Parts: sequence; C-alpha cells; structure tokens
Amino acid sequence: MAVPVPYAVEHADRVPKERYFDPGFYELECELLWPRVWQMACRLEELPGVGDFVEYEILDQSVVVVRVDATDVRAFQNTCRHRGVKLVEGRGTIDSGFTCPFHGWCYGVDGANTFVSQKRTFAEHNLQPGDIDLVPVRCETWAGCAWINLDHGAPSLRECIEPAATTLDAWNADALQAEWWYAARLPVNWKLAEEAFIEQYHVLETHPQLRLPGRYPPRNGQFDSRTFVDAELEYLHVMSDGMAGMVHADDVRIAEELRGIELPADPVLARSTWDHALNDAVTRWHREQGHAMPDLNDLDAQGFNEPFWHLFPHYFVLPMYSSASAYRFRPLGPEETLMEIWSLTRFPEGHTRPKPTPPEIWECDDERWPPIPTQDFSNLPRQQKGLHNKGFEFMRLSETAEGSISNFERTVDGFLAGLPYEKLLPALRSVNVDPLEMPIVDLGF
Ligand code: FES
Ligand SMILES: [Fe+2]
Repeated sequence: MAVPVPYAVEHADRVPKERYFDPGFYELECELLWPRVWQMACRLEELPGVGDFVEYEILDQSVVVVRVDATDVRAFQNTCRHRGVKLVEGRGTIDSGFTCPFHGWCYGVDGANTFVSQKRTFAEHNLQPGDIDLVPVRCETWAGCAWINLDHGAPSLRECIEPAATTLDAWNADALQAEWWYAARLPVNWKLAEEAFIEQYHVLETHPQLRLPGRYPPRNGQFDSRTFVDAELEYLHVMSDGMAGMVHADDVRIAEELRGIELPADPVLARSTWDHALNDAVTRWHREQGHAMPDLNDLDAQGFNEPFWHLFPHYFVLPMYSSASAYRFRPLGPEETLMEIWSLTRFPEGHTRPKPTPPEIWECDDERWPPIPTQDFSNLPRQQKGLHNKGFEFMRLSETAEGSISNFERTVDGFLAGLPYEKLLPALRSVNVDPLEMPIVDLGF
C-alpha cells in the first residue's frame, strides 16, 4: 500500500520547495530511498589486488567493499559482530582478513569469522556458526565500478539501471579508467545539486562560452562550411578545457587534423559528414593504441550516441567520443552534498594504472575547479538560499526542457511512498536515460 508522501510532486510541473530542506523529508529519504537503491560504491581501479578494500559511506551506514579474487568483489556491513566497532576506515589492503582493533576478533576476506579470543568465556548461543560472520551487502560490478544495495530484496543492478546499461555496455564503458578524481562540498540539497546538471536550459546563460555562432547553421540560409568546422572545433576545445576532460585532449587533437575537410554545401549533410569523419578518426586512433574502443559510427547507427546518462539515484556518465566525465552525489545533510567528478578515458588493454588517490574535498568556490563546474557551482548556493524565501513556494518546470527534473523527483516519491519494485522499475526506465531532452512523462503511479 502506498503511504502518503509529504510535499509530494502533485502537479508534475511544480516541485514544492520543502523537498530541498525540510528535515522530515530528508529523514524519509534516509529511511525509504537510500536503503533500497543501487549505489556506485567505488571504482574498480581502487581495488586492483586481492585484499584491497574501500569503505563506502552513505548517511550513517558504512559498507566495506573488498576484492576477494581476480573476478570477485564483495561487500559487508562494516561492523564487528562482537560490540559493533567499525572494522576498517578509509581504504587499504588486508593480507589474510579483517582484525577488529578492539578485542581482536578476525574475519576472512569472505566475511567468515575466523577467530574469537577467549572463546570459552562466551555462551554458545552468542557464537553460533554463521551468526558471527560479517553481514553481507549486495554487491555487483559493472562499468568499472563496484555497486552496492542495502536491500536484499531489490532487483539486480542491471534491471535497475536500464536502459543506460545497454548503451554504456555497447560503448565499452567497462574499459574506462580514471585519469583524475575531484570532490566538492556543495552547500545545497543533493537533489538540487543533481538537477543543476540534468537540463540544458541553463547552458546559454550559465555557460556563455558555449554560445558558438556557426555551430547550428540555418537549414535554408547561407551555409559556410569553414565557419561550421571552426565552430565545431572551438566547441570541442571549450568543452575539453572547461571540463579538464570529457572531450579528451587526444580526441580534440584528432578533430584538429580534420580541419581542412571538404563538406557538402547542404548544412544537414555537412553535419552528418563531419560527425561521421570525426567518429571514424577517433575510433581508428584509439584502436591503433590498443584501446578497447567501440566503432562510434556503429553506435550512432544503433542510436547509442547520447552524451549523458543518469543512473538513478546518484551516478552520471557523460560520454563524449572516446572518454567521459562521471559524477556521484551523496547527501551529507538536508542542505549539504558531496559531489565527486571523475575524468575517465581509455588505456591500452592490460595496462594497470596506479590506485587513484581519494581527492581532497574542495569548497565549490575553490579556484582549482575547471571553468564549467565553476559556473554550475556558482548558482547552486544562491538557489538553495532563494528557496527559503517566503515568497517562493514551488519550482515551475518547463514541461519539455526540464522534464527530467520532474521525472526524477516523482521517482523519488515512488520510493518514499514505499511502492513495490514492480511499480518502481518502469519509472526507473524513464530516468535512467539521457535526461537533457526528456519531457515530463507518465511514470505509471
Ligand atoms: S568489538 Fe570487535 S572484537 Fe570486540
Ligand atoms: Fe552546466
């Protein structure tokens, strides 16, 4: 039975402001959303060897993710079965298992209890076999990441992240590795932070450097192919510099080599000729380097060319040609969010990268941020403050340009209402998509 949700999105194009700061609403998310969703817990580059572990924290829960062997990564509740001490903090490598620092109980990498000191002093019923092993947490690996879910009754990861999973598999997302990893503390609600990235409506005002004359030539007006190519190259440079990646510098250089290309006089044909030539050149160069690189024109032909994927609730992949940016958001409080950004690219197959170092957490106005996140971050604290004004009641959404915000918020409501997975899965299929062009859709509840 669905439970009434306070401040629910009752009109699909209006979002009540309390959802972004009300402590009771936040509590509901802590109880009913986060314990039931698949969460990106760490990148697999952080777990290259057997015994490597990472602690993943979400709200007041701590999970340890550990590599058991070359193909097996498992997760456990990070708490000793004796008196509850956290077994590990941060990350590291264990040789033969976990040892609790308090009284020395031991557990294997498979979570099985292997040692209790002064065993005879405990009653038998407190040391029942199985009852003193670490409590397992659902864990799956996909696209170069370990994913956890605190709900043993949840559908598989794949069921919960389609259709993004199929496209990102076709694009060999599993072959990407981290080039860098940054983290920001944002003084805003986690949903507000995500929603700054899931519409394109803000781009012209917030990112004025992306207004490029010549990039979208009129269909019937005067078309100049040199202006068009210059604008395309300028766009790639601005995106690459602006994100310190996403469009990888290698791909920008490959595009530069096409500067003298002859294009048809018709603007539509000119665009498709340019896209095709650039896809070919990028595919060829990466394959020559020994990278697991899909054929970008094949992907285009199959419709697998969206540059943006949301994996509900908190992970994003933004593929551009060979490489990508990825985002992860975690709430730290009703009005505080940890956002991490990875720059992902391809390396020769079999190449092992050094373990990535966890980032220092920067404030959102830190001067070290690349230009595009700086611009996105500049609005967020002002928006969180503006929401509190008595004269503001709800966000009014464009049905076409901001539909993904509505779809996302109403899917959150589905979890808060305690709907069963059979009802939630169709909604997840409407949000695990490229959000940039999504209109408001019927989620079925
Ligand atoms: S709490 Fe872990 S051994 Fe006592
Ligand atoms: Fe932006």
